[in-house]
This record gives sequence, C-alpha cells and structure tokens, in this order.
Amino acid sequence: MLKLITTLALLAVCHAHIIKPACDLLSIQNIIYQKEVLKENVNEPYQMAIDYNTNTLFFSYSAVNPTTEATVFEQAYLNLKTKEFNSISGIIGGFAATVDNTNNNVYLGGRNGIYAYDYEKNKATHVNPNGYSIWQMFFKDKLYYTAYPQERVYTFEDGNSIILPELSRTMVQLVALDNDLNMYFSNSSGLFLLNKSDNVIAKLGEYTINSFTADINGNLYFSTPSGFYKIDKKNVLQLADVDDVFGLVVDGDNNLIYGSGDKIIRLSATTKTNCF
Ligand SMILES: *[C@@H]1O[C@H](CO)[C@@H](O)[C@H](O)[C@H]1NC(C)=O
Ligand SMILES: *[C@@H]1O[C@H](CO)[C@@H](O)[C@H](O)[C@H]1NC(C)=O
Repeated sequence: MLKLITTLALLAVCHAHIIKPACDLLSIQNIIYQKEVLKENVNEPYQMAIDYNTNTLFFSYSAVNPTTEATVFEQAYLNLKTKEFNSISGIIGGFAATVDNTNNNVYLGGRNGIYAYDYEKNKATHVNPNGYSIWQMFFKDKLYYTAYPQERVYTFEDGNSIILPELSRTMVQLVALDNDLNMYFSNSSGLFLLNKSDNVIAKLGEYTINSFTADINGNLYFSTPSGFYKIDKKNVLQLADVDDVFGLVVDGDNNLIYGSGDKIIRLSATTKTNCF
C-alpha cells in the first residue's frame, strides 16, 4: 500500500497542477506559469517554429477553401512582440516550418517541396522544384525533413535532397536532432532514438507525437494531443497534461507556446501566486 501511495505521489509531481483556474495560473515542475492567449481564430495551429532573431512564430493552420469547401493548409506568422499576424503567400498547401537560427533562414514546406521565406516580401519561394509533399522539417546542421506518403527522412543541402541512409528502411513521421546529432524520430509505433555514435535504434516509448521542438539552446521537447514532454538523452519527462494540443515551441525566454483548438497560447513564468 505504501508503495502504491509513493508511486501515485511520484506520478502526481510530473503533472501540471492548475492552481488558480480563474486567473489561468498553472504550475509545471514547481514553476508557476500564467496562461495568455496570443492569437484566436486560427483553426488547429500546427507545426510551429520560432525565428529567435526576429521573435517571429511560424505555423500552419487549417482553412476552408470558399469555392471547393475543401480543407486546405495555410501558413502564417505571428510576431511575438508586436502580435502582428499575416498569412504567407506563394506556397501551396503550406504545412511545415523550421528556422536555421545561425544563418537566419526560414524554411517552409508545402505540398510540392521546400520554400524559402522572404520577410521583406512576406512571400515563400520554391527552392526544390518537383519536391515531395513535406510533412515536417527540422533544421540542425542541415535541413532534415519527412515526406508524405513516403514516411521517410531526407536531408536538403546545396539544392540536393537525399534519403537519410541510416533510416532508409524505417517509417518516420517526425524528426528532431539534439546537440550531439542524435536523432529522435516518431512513427505510428512510438518514439525512437537513433544514436549518432553507434547507429543503434532504441525505442523510448509509445507516444502519439504531434510535434518536436528545440529551445534556443537545443534542448528537445515534444507534444502529444494531451501533453508536453521534455527529452533528456534516453529519458522522457512529462511536463504537463494539457487538452487538445496541436504543437509546442519554446520561446527565447523559456516560455512555452502551444496551439490548441483555434488558439495560440503562451505560458509565461510568473511570480504571481494568486489573481490579485
Ligand atoms: C517505427 O520505427 C521502428 C524503428 O526503426 C521500427 O522498428 C518500427 O517497425 C517502425 N514502425 C512502423 C509502423 O513502421
Ligand atoms: C549513444 O551511445 C554512446 C555510446 O554507446 C553513449 O555513450 C551515449 O550516452 C548514447 N547517447 C544517448 C543519447 O543515448
């Protein structure tokens, strides 16, 4: 019995506690966060990425084409400082986004390949004609992406796309790399780690992952439809239970930003402990 209580207590610490629902305070790992809606009326905000140099959030959302009534993916940005919001033109079925924060390049992925984003024109330019339909992208030492329906990982460098040889025989939906270039990937069986030093693949758990993200220091996080998690080498730490999550990113001040329903929400650390 004591063992059970201890186990339950340990489980409880991992979860987020909503301490003051009325003023939207919640506690994650003993830090109190205030919930703030950054943007409303963007349906299913997915595949988010932050350009830390310009404090801009890129994401995709679902819209209905007024003529055909089909659901289409659109891409947009939200300036996290000024809250300026705009959708991005020039891309077909824009779904994926990633940022090379060293060279200040923003990449977007659509139904026919990779695009480079131009801030001045607010326009995406196609950089790999006849490219695959991009599912997700992750920039580390180079651009990594997954494609649908192939469910494989590719790299894009100097204008050339190649399949990642180490994972050419395995299904991959989403990828992320840590600072040692170990690769974390998901498929419909769960979360896996491809160790860079020995190329051994280990299964880390059966999560239904809908986003991977790296913070400004390269620490990795992921989200499932019902929570946030942090990756520490071979360990996964649950940070919070949250409903209806479509994606997670971490801004330059370590605030958590996520898409939920038709909103983009920021959780910022606060010294408040009550509503007044
Ligand atoms: C997911 O990847 C693992 C590791 O490569 C593999 O064993 C598993 O079969 C894959 N799952 C699917 C559904 O392909
Ligand atoms: C990768 O493998 C090396 C050598 O076996 C090990 O030292 C290292 O901790 C592993 N990395 C991860 C992220 O598990």
